[in-house]
Amino acid sequence: MIGWIGLGHIGRAMAERLSEEYELLVWNRTIEKANGFKTVARTPEEVAEKCDVIFLSLYDSEAVRQVSERLLSVNLRGKIIVDTTTNHHEKVLEFHEIYRNVGAFYLESPVIGSVIPARNGQLTILVSGEREAFERVRPYLQKLGKRIFYFNEPGKATKLKLINNFVLGAFMAALGEAIALGEKAGLSREEIIEILENGAGNSMVLSAKKTKLLNDDYSTHFSVKNLVKDLSYAYDLAVASRKAVPLNATVREIYRLAFEKGLEELDFSVVYRLFREL
Ligand SMILES: NC(=O)c1ccc[n+]([C@@H]2O[C@H](COP(=O)([O-])OP(=O)(O)OC[C@H]3O[C@@H](n4cnc5c(N)ncnc54)[C@H](OP(=O)(O)O)[C@@H]3O)[C@@H](O)[C@H]2O)c1
Repeated sequence: MIGWIGLGHIGRAMAERLSEEYELLVWNRTIEKANGFKTVARTPEEVAEKCDVIFLSLYDSEAVRQVSERLLSVNLRGKIIVDTTTNHHEKVLEFHEIYRNVGAFYLESPVIGSVIPARNGQLTILVSGEREAFERVRPYLQKLGKRIFYFNEPGKATKLKLINNFVLGAFMAALGEAIALGEKAGLSREEIIEILENGAGNSMVLSAKKTKLLNDDYSTHFSVKNLVKDLSYAYDLAVASRKAVPLNATVREIYRLAFEKGLEELDFSVVYRLFREL
């Protein structure tokens, strides 16, 4: 039985996908979110006791630290933690160490793609950690992702993921501002998006968000709150690397406007609406 901890937007989608083929024991802090799963644990400790492979899909590194504390109260020798959370580049090194110290394996495994690719096994997965552990969990990762990049070096997968999400945030913001400008200039949203799709806007981001933008549907796949967390982590990476990132700071502040308006739990494509209402 595979353990799964964290049933948020993408956690639930990945767990559902995996449960098509494997038996899962799931746990979520807000237990109602586990409705619909066959086997639900009462505590993370129970997952640690019963499962040799435990997936995590949690909000941030503080959540991973808190859950890890509970997992570590159980004998984890030989067990594998597959952490799909987007983490802080320094915290993730601590996670490798605390699990190594008890004879367990920690695989930082951030994912690229959102709820729909997760549900369809179309994610891109970046993995850093021991090769032996990676090989043991590879079949599960293959069920979730169409492309898997393995790196031995701890921290590398997380750094790459943070760099990717900076581009994700910046690109979505550029699309949002461009569409808002076009509409103010008298163009229709449909024609702007059609031309962007066939021009400089052609991207994974636009194809993933096109329908949402056309329908003003900001139901959450990837929340503003999560993106701002990732942009803050990317900023910390920049500080640690002694690299100035003026665009990162601007993009992050644009999304932070959503907090002022109470929109931070919505999908980050809501940035278009923020520009429209400026
Ligand atoms: N959504 C996406 O498209 C996407 C794509 C790639 C990567 N990611 C990354 O994947 C992770 C999960 O994303 P998500 O969209 O599923 O986030 P989410 O919907 O906000 O869910 C967060 C999950 O973390 C749990 N959690 C938060 N703090 C906790 C704590 N202190 N102790 C225990 N559990 C805690 C939540 O439990 P409760 O239900 O009790 O609040 C929930 O299960 C994030 O790191 C995100 O950056 C997301």
